[in-house]
Formats: sequence, C-alpha cells, structure tokens
Amino acid sequence: MSNKQLNETLEKVKCAVWCKTAEESQNYYTLWSQEYDDDLIILGSDGCQMATNMFLKHVKDKTSSKILDFGGGTGISSFLIRNQLQFQGEIDIMDANIDMLYKASQKKIAFRNIIRHFVGKSGDLPVRDASYDVIVTTGAFIPKHIPATAIQGVIKAIRSGGLLIMTRRLQGTGDYGEELDQNIDQLCSEKKLELLDHIEYGHFSNQENTIKSGCFVYMRK
Ligand SMILES: C[S@@+](CC[C@H](N)C(=O)[O-])C[C@H]1O[C@@H](n2cnc3c(N)ncnc32)[C@H](O)[C@@H]1O
Repeated sequence: MSNKQLNETLEKVKCAVWCKTAEESQNYYTLWSQEYDDDLIILGSDGCQMATNMFLKHVKDKTSSKILDFGGGTGISSFLIRNQLQFQGEIDIMDANIDMLYKASQKKIAFRNIIRHFVGKSGDLPVRDASYDVIVTTGAFIPKHIPATAIQGVIKAIRSGGLLIMTRRLQGTGDYGEELDQNIDQLCSEKKLELLDHIEYGHFSNQENTIKSGCFVYMRK
C-alpha cells in the first residue's frame, strides 16, 4: 500500500478523534462507517485482535458467558470473538452510532441485543447492574468518545468476578488520558477493579510511528 493511501486513511482517524466535540465525532462516524473496516486493515489496527487474545486467555466459560462489546462500532471485536474463538455465549453490542451498528448487524455474529446508546459522563448504561460476565471495549476510551469518568458507571454492568477487557492508547491523549488513569486508579484503590493482565502493542502497525497502546484485563470485585 502506498504512503499516500496510508496518510489519507490516518487523516480520517484524526477527523474522528481530534475534532472539537463528541457530536462532531459522531457525525464523522456516520460517514466513516462505510469505509471503517477497510481503513483499519490499511492502518494495521491490532486492538481488536489483542482483546480477542486476552478473551481467549482469561474467559473460562466460552459457552454461556454474557458479554457486552462496549463502543463496539462495526463489531470487529465481536466478530473475532464469535468466529475466531467459536464463542457460543450471548453477545450484546452498544454504541452511539446507528450507522456503525448497522454495519455490525450485517456480520455473522448473531447478537442478542444491538443497543444504541450515547454514553455520558456518569457512564450510566441502559442495562441492569451486574448483567455481564465480560465487557470488551476496544478503541472507545479516547478523547471525544466515551468520557473518561464514565468508566465509574460502566463497570457496574459487570458482575462481581467478571472481567473488563479494554484497549487504550498510552500516549498522545493528553488530559483525557490522565483523567482516565485517575479514574481507573481510584477504582483499583477502592477495590472495585483489580488488574489481572496487560500487554503493550503498537497501534496502527502499518505506519512508521505506531501509537504505544495497551490491552488491559481487570477483574470486577
Ligand atoms: C474507534 S471506534 C471503535 C469501534 C470498535 N470497538 C473497534 O475497535 O473497531 C469508536 C466507537 O466508539 C463510539 N462512541 C464514541 N463515543 C461514544 C459515546 N459517548 N457513547 C457510545 N459510543 C461512543 C463511536 O460511535 C465508535 O463506533
């Protein structure tokens, strides 16, 4: 693939992430949904695969667990978990963008529920507390996407002993990254989350300067 193609594709990511408001980002996803999956292949996006590897390693019950693909977009993580791991449990997907979700709905994933919901600062979700064994979230805790404080509310949807499998950028997210760190540190010190595992990787591996990123596995206490 040419450098020109790579740079043009990177510009699309910047439009979604480095915009002024969450609303602007959402409008951009409506357009980008058409090319999103192809563009991630061009960029070499490994986050969904990293999360799938962690799922394989840490989720013992692959027949009856209930999982939520949170900020799931076009459902790439769900697709890998369902088809690469032959996961037989229930998968719900939640995202603010109906066009991204429509793309997800067209894949062979057999979702139980497709939930359109814009997550606000409190992280309150339209599901009962402790509804899920696992929440998987890839590429959604970034600026102008899921608010950093929302992690406090989101984890309530995981049952005690369940898992949060999360990818995030470890550089270049400024104040947002610091706020997310503070919120996660607080949840760990309050013994609501416990870090079980993590792996670092370079996000967008086809570009020269990859973005240092991590996939983290926490247990809900
Ligand atoms: C970079 S995409 C990641 C999609 C998918 N998880 C993946 O790894 O390909 C970020 C997704 O987060 C969703 N999103 C952003 N802000 C959101 C919010 N406040 N509430 C719910 N979804 C949001 C976007 O609509 C988009 O589909």
